[in-house]
Amino acid sequence: MADNSPAALGWPLQAAVVGGYTPTGDPGPGAGANNPGVDDMDELPMAVALREELAASVSRETDWMASPPVPSQVSRETAPPLPVDVDAEDPPLADAGTETAHIGRPARATPWPTPSRQRVLGIANQKGGVGKTTSTVNLAAALALHGARVLVIDLDPQGNASTAFGVDHRGGTPSVYDVLVDGRPLHEVATPVAELPGLFCVPATIDLAGAEIELVSMVARESRLRRAVEALPEPYDFVFVDCPPSLGLLTVNALVAAQEVLIPIQCEFYALEGLSQLLRNIDLVRAHLNPDLHVSTILLTMYDGRTRLAEQVAQEVRTHFGELVLGATIPRSVRISEAPGYGQSVMTYDPASRGAIAYIDAAEEIAQRSAAEIGGEAAASPGEERSPE
Ligand SMILES: Nc1ncnc2c1ncn2[C@@H]1O[C@H](COP(=O)(O)OP(=O)(O)O)[C@@H](O)[C@H]1O
Ligand SMILES: [Mg+2]
Repeated sequence: MADNSPAALGWPLQAAVVGGYTPTGDPGPGAGANNPGVDDMDELPMAVALREELAASVSRETDWMASPPVPSQVSRETAPPLPVDVDAEDPPLADAGTETAHIGRPARATPWPTPSRQRVLGIANQKGGVGKTTSTVNLAAALALHGARVLVIDLDPQGNASTAFGVDHRGGTPSVYDVLVDGRPLHEVATPVAELPGLFCVPATIDLAGAEIELVSMVARESRLRRAVEALPEPYDFVFVDCPPSLGLLTVNALVAAQEVLIPIQCEFYALEGLSQLLRNIDLVRAHLNPDLHVSTILLTMYDGRTRLAEQVAQEVRTHFGELVLGATIPRSVRISEAPGYGQSVMTYDPASRGAIAYIDAAEEIAQRSAAEIGGEAAASPGEERSPE
């Protein structure tokens, strides 16, 4: 790539656009409606540059294919061992029966610090399939397994987070729809998640699909979730709001309720497209509805270390978002995609898998940020460790 400087890539004010990690509630130097640079970001130039470069090469070429020849019919699962996180390093699928599916123990269970005040994170990216729900579920589970009180609000009418936690979300089940449309208190619809003490889920039913339209004519339509969160009788350590793949009123409700946005970015070809739109929306919400809102965390997901593409995307994202990007990168892993089928997080499904360890590491970074930047209670001594059972 010719000129990789932030200026050349159109990010002269990336800290201003993103707002930085400002847990004290200070929206940062660039917050506000007059944030220059935002309007210039119709398309992220880095996405264009990356696309052009990749178009010139074979985009799916991999390092391991270039060196020792591998029979073309060999699938990913049977590929030779590689120096990176790949599915081949997971235990064979045959081991994934009921035995491993119900281990119910995390890889590590040392309690982490909890924040001094409730942290509300919207997990947002209007692209579908980037790992919003998977990250919400697994980060929440990891934090709960390490002593935090966590609420997950499923704000996607598809109810994938509810499914992943094994929480009933058939039509008519008391859900986030009742909270948004009828003003029902959140705690009345928060359901405990089995095997994960301290973790609760507000399910989404298909009724939520209509809420986007029903909300349009309602008073304070953008702030209904925020009001519900503020009215919680007992604060949680973390509230995660799993957003739908759109930038409509449901996502706006999440962004108004949250202080922080966590953006999962898939290490894939189109990963960066649409990001400027998301950042612009976050900026608008901050300017008009929620001055505390800031992007606090970026998580790289579905990283396949065999591809140059994944590495390139990860590098670009780290270059431009700096410390907002968690050090832990989530690998593409069969175990991660299998776990929801058992109504489990990957930590309880297969605690020793690479996917579980990566989510544990990512969650620990989030918890440590609570301690370092928001102020948190010291972790309990190991003797007071919470059992996941
Ligand atoms: N790290 C991963 N490795 C393998 N599959 C993954 C991983 N993360 C997510 N998936 C799978 O990708 C699909 C989309 O993920 P999901 O979390 O539902 O995305 P989103 O909520 O952004 O639409 C799901 O089938 C999920 O199981
Ligand atoms: Mg989802």
